[in-house]
Amino acid sequence: MSQTQHQLRLGAIIQGASGNMSAWRHPDAVADASINVDYVLDLARKAEQAKIDFLFVADGLYITPQSIPHFLNRFEPITLLSALSLVTKNIGLVATLSTSYSEPFTVARQFASLDHLSGGRVGWNVVTSPLEGSAKNFSRATHPEHDERYRVASEYLRVVKGLWDSWEEGAFVRDKASGQFFDADKLHTLNHQGQYFSVQGPLNVGRSPQGRPIVFQAGASEAGKAFAAEAADAIYTRQETLEQAREFREDVRSRLVAQGRNADDIRVFQGISVIIGDNEEEAERRYQQTAELVSIDNALEYLGRYFEHHDFSRYPLDAPFPEIGDLGENSFRSTTDTIKRNARERGLTLRQVALEEATPRPAFLGTAQQVADGLAQWFIAGAADGFIVRGGTPTAFDDFVAQVIPLLQQRGLYRSEYAGETLRENLGLPEPENQFAQRRRQQVA
Ligand SMILES: Cc1cc2nc3c(=O)[nH]c(=O)nc-3n(C[C@H](O)[C@H](O)[C@H](O)COP(=O)(O)O)c2cc1C
Repeated sequence: MSQTQHQLRLGAIIQGASGNMSAWRHPDAVADASINVDYVLDLARKAEQAKIDFLFVADGLYITPQSIPHFLNRFEPITLLSALSLVTKNIGLVATLSTSYSEPFTVARQFASLDHLSGGRVGWNVVTSPLEGSAKNFSRATHPEHDERYRVASEYLRVVKGLWDSWEEGAFVRDKASGQFFDADKLHTLNHQGQYFSVQGPLNVGRSPQGRPIVFQAGASEAGKAFAAEAADAIYTRQETLEQAREFREDVRSRLVAQGRNADDIRVFQGISVIIGDNEEEAERRYQQTAELVSIDNALEYLGRYFEHHDFSRYPLDAPFPEIGDLGENSFRSTTDTIKRNARERGLTLRQVALEEATPRPAFLGTAQQVADGLAQWFIAGAADGFIVRGGTPTAFDDFVAQVIPLLQQRGLYRSEYAGETLRENLGLPEPENQFAQRRRQQVA
């Protein structure tokens, strides 16, 4: 195993003032951070100086007045990362885009273009869109059912990867003397006819500088994991305990092997929030200051979002978490299953569930040394290949960069320079062979 495979990887979330209801009200928060380009540029610069592997932008396609403030007014991910691609040099750029409300040809083209603009630093976080309301914004009568969304995603990724292989490396010879612009042997037309998509190709963008953009997947249900094993290079997930995270990673890795892939061909990232203090009491005080900004009404709305904006204010606050049946099954399934199970097993009231969900206690809260030790412990135990980090307070990401990363570097767990030029090289993932060239090679052999 190479040195870099013994090192963990880090991503940084771009998420405005934070993904909770009241974070923008914090005295140190930049209240318009979600739509403030200077704020984003500053974050990107800090992350790149710290040699963070990639910036990560989540996304959604449906809002109501009750949505999290960050969701109400934010940059579209591809647009944002296009701007960042020209003012950054090394850091990866990962954008979320839904396979339920887009066309494979357009999306293949957008990510291929962004990969060329950035010199091979792009990743696509493939999501299937949890919210039923999304259908109303895309002229659809209904939102596709959970497992069907994943069947669509599976075919969608086969199409996109086929389009990304339209042109082999070196296809564009541009020989002015002979007049030959491209080598016809290196051009491949997909001609896909499937259950959901009919796409001829070829794509009007040449092969990506990193073979093809990195495919992330976020979704942890059975269908989500099966899809990741088939199609993803990386996973964005969230588990509460080290043991659950270790089991999740092992499960995904064994699913890869069952698909004929190598277990090391995927990177599992735990999404984490961090709060750092000079001592434990200070870190705790910083957490409480953030938690106290959230009213119980805000917390109920936040919880409701996972359950199709269900109105939880109709239940008694201090009674056990209400019986809500299948609600949430067709949206954020893995998340809603966890919330319901947690409430049942720990005997929580609705108030407790709502407040915990609205401002989850960061798993990594304490001194820089404690946070670094915690990350090292998870990594060494095989609970994660890396972490996608979100500051739990407005200054926590700066603290993480200034104090935690140097400790990880001292322990040899994080590198001090980018390993390569592309996101694929930095994540230590193998470059895929062009599928058409591979087929031709196999036919000849
Ligand atoms: C950690 C995590 C992050 C996610 N991020 C997004 C996101 O940014 N945008 C989105 O539309 N869906 C997001 N999803 C939702 C999934 O893509 C999927 O639509 C939904 O969770 C159902 O999949 P699952 O039941 O397999 O988890 C996320 C899910 C998880 C678990």
